Amino acid sequence: MSELRILAVSEGPTADDWRHVHNVIIPADALSADEVRERIGRNRLHVAYRGDTLVGCTTVRPGAVATVIVRVLAQYRRQGIGRQLHAMALAEARALDAERVETIVWASNVDGLRFAAAHGYAEEVDRYLPDGEDVPYITLRRA
Ligand SMILES: CC(C)(COP(=O)(O)OP(=O)(O)OC[C@H]1O[C@@H](n2cnc3c(N)ncnc32)[C@H](O)[C@@H]1OP(=O)(O)O)[C@@H](O)C(=O)NCCC(=O)NCCS
Repeated sequence: MSELRILAVSEGPTADDWRHVHNVIIPADALSADEVRERIGRNRLHVAYRGDTLVGCTTVRPGAVATVIVRVLAQYRRQGIGRQLHAMALAEARALDAERVETIVWASNVDGLRFAAAHGYAEEVDRYLPDGEDVPYITLRRA
């Protein structure tokens, strides 16, 4: 199996790939190219490839309370990619002086809820239901 390549997102193809993974996994909050550009300024975004194949992406929102989100396309799950991406993103949040780390999971992502629990995100700190939607976003804090 080829090694995972993790690239920082800047304008161009990496931004398009990050947006693709985000929007496939969170269709209820699909982002435009402009919205992704704005996030590049605010957050640390990465994309992951196995060989040349796009497999996932990450978001780190820096701060004393940092947010770390890992996304792996469904066909590449359960092979340890999420674990590797999470380790990288958590290290980055810590290097940016995070005192606490949280994640946000769209409640329909059952794999995501399990993964977050298995990686120590045990405490629910917020639950947000956008207007007109049925499925909340759950913020979980890492112990
Ligand atoms: C959460 C998510 C990132 C996990 O990605 P992943 O690549 O499947 O993660 P891993 O492969 O590291 O671990 C997932 C499971 O596969 C298992 N696994 C890992 N390698 C394996 C292998 N070689 N064979 C079989 N199972 C394996 C892990 O033990 C883990 O099992 P568990 O769910 O019983 O704990 C992915 O499901 C996703 O993108 N979900 C939607 C987004 C989301 O909700 N993200 C959560 C916020 S962080």
